[in-house]
Amino acid sequence: MNNQNVINEIRSKIDIVDFIGEYVPLIQKGKNFFGVCPFHNDTNPSMSVSRDKQIYKCFSCGASGNVFTFLMDYEHIDFKEALKILADRTNISIGNVHIDKKTNKYDKYYDVYDLANKFYQNNINSSFGSKAKEYLKSRGIDDKIIKEFGIGLSLEDSDSLTKLLKNKNYNLVELENIGLISNGHDAYINRIMFPLHDINGRTVGFSGRIYDNSNLNKYLNTKETVIFKKGECLYNYHIAKDYARRAKFVIVMEGFMDVIRASTIDYKNVVALMGTALTKEQISLIKKLSQNVILCLDGDNPGQKAMLNVGNELEKNGLKVKVIVLNDDDDPDTFILKNGKEAFDNLVENAINYSDYRINNLKKGVNFNSDLELSNYINNVLQETSKINDEIRREIILKKLAIEVNISYNTLEKRLNEYLEMESQKEEQKEEKQQVKTKLSLYDKACYAFIYCMLNSSKVINYYNRNNVSMVEKAYRHLASEIYYYYTKYGEVTIADFYTYLTDKAELLELYNKIISYESSYDTSDKAIEDYVKVINKYNERQEIKRLNALVKKEIDPIEKAKIAEQIRLLRIGE
Ligand code: UTP
Ligand code: MN
Repeated sequence: MNNQNVINEIRSKIDIVDFIGEYVPLIQKGKNFFGVCPFHNDTNPSMSVSRDKQIYKCFSCGASGNVFTFLMDYEHIDFKEALKILADRTNISIGNVHIDKKTNKYDKYYDVYDLANKFYQNNINSSFGSKAKEYLKSRGIDDKIIKEFGIGLSLEDSDSLTKLLKNKNYNLVELENIGLISNGHDAYINRIMFPLHDINGRTVGFSGRIYDNSNLNKYLNTKETVIFKKGECLYNYHIAKDYARRAKFVIVMEGFMDVIRASTIDYKNVVALMGTALTKEQISLIKKLSQNVILCLDGDNPGQKAMLNVGNELEKNGLKVKVIVLNDDDDPDTFILKNGKEAFDNLVENAINYSDYRINNLKKGVNFNSDLELSNYINNVLQETSKINDEIRREIILKKLAIEVNISYNTLEKRLNEYLEMESQKEEQKEEKQQVKTKLSLYDKACYAFIYCMLNSSKVINYYNRNNVSMVEKAYRHLASEIYYYYTKYGEVTIADFYTYLTDKAELLELYNKIISYESSYDTSDKAIEDYVKVINKYNERQEIKRLNALVKKEIDPIEKAKIAEQIRLLRIGE
């Protein structure tokens, strides 16, 4: 069997609805299944998955594809890696399939980070590391954890790593650029080194912690480089992703000491924001871990403030958020150290809904004896309540509020309904905005339709060949000819398999995506096909006339000029 056949066989063995359902909850509506799209900041289920066609498409962001493209985009892996994972899943051997390994222009940076990482880890286990180990031990971090998280040590000698890398012929300017060397010396001196990973688990930076009584910054982080963007990382993402998917929730903490501590009591589905404001990229990473998030930030004031902001951002992006509130002087690390696993299990089990937390927070500092403050408070609570998509929970909040502020339930309900009305108007406007499709010209529509029909019917492919259908726009022409080529080589074309065939042809894949997600069905009758082709040919002619007109203007030789003019005239008659 050749490559494409093996690839198609693997694809056909995995049902796309089951597969995507493992990542995103899907609900059946009619023939198709719908879920929240993981490829943009979706709140309503915009992604449809078709069992018939074995493809998915998002009506909002236009993402579409088959099981391979889903896995590649979701996990940020290349085709080869996706193929390997799905081959394992189907027990189909890909031993003979040859796919060129893509080399990455940053490979050498990953290699040097790997080397630095090994060097630091070696140091901590050498005689230089005894003081650092003592410090870690005093914080309850033993050798097993040191190994698990790749914790290392940079030396007091400020040239040790520089020398090592110099001897290996690394370029010093490049080493400065990627943050390992600073002003000709090691960037990190005498710090406990925590490696930071990208989403694929490659070491791309470090955070170095002081461990003696030095009064330098507690942590020193790698600067922004071509391979390290702090705002695009979540600490422990690469480990947490499998655990979070299995546990069906993810816990978000502030610092990496918190994550490391949580892992000692078997919470591996945990990531840390690492002290930055939440970014768009981090939101989409969290979304990929799970739809269900438990926020457990530090108990102090900044931590609680961050919890309100982060929770709000996450809920706005369609995630279900719960929170754990710690005492003012605790962070997850100290809480777990003091109270142990069972106590933390308890907190996780009893985590409260973010909206309840938010409403509870509204009470802070309100003077209930002031009519104005009280009515503001009531309005704020009702406004928050109107955002909750659960009638029962709304009623519970309303009942409690009625007792708390001594106002009749009916009065509160009336006001709540006004807010609910406003909310639903906002939603409608949002949906309308999402549904504005790019308007296509008649010609583009005809090309879309014709190409789509080629994918669905060998009759149309034969028509294409027999009538020499050609499209002046290069991308359309190429896509049609690829479909024809694929058909002649493999005997049939399916929409799902053709995605994989286009994997390396980015421009065509983009167009293909657009065509697949534009409409879900086209008229494939003979008459319709002929109409599409008529539109295409007419456009071709007009383009040709335009081209000749430009030519005729430039031509100086009167005989040649007349010849072209005649050509134009003939084309015009045809029109
Ligand atoms: P914390 O100060 O809460 O750190 O900052 P921590 O995890 O509790 O660390 P320990 O227990 O004192 O060792 C939370 C996160 O903010 C970032 C780090 O990523 C840290 O994990 N941070 C903090 C810095 O980058 N630099 C700093 O100087 C401090
Ligand atoms: Mn902390």
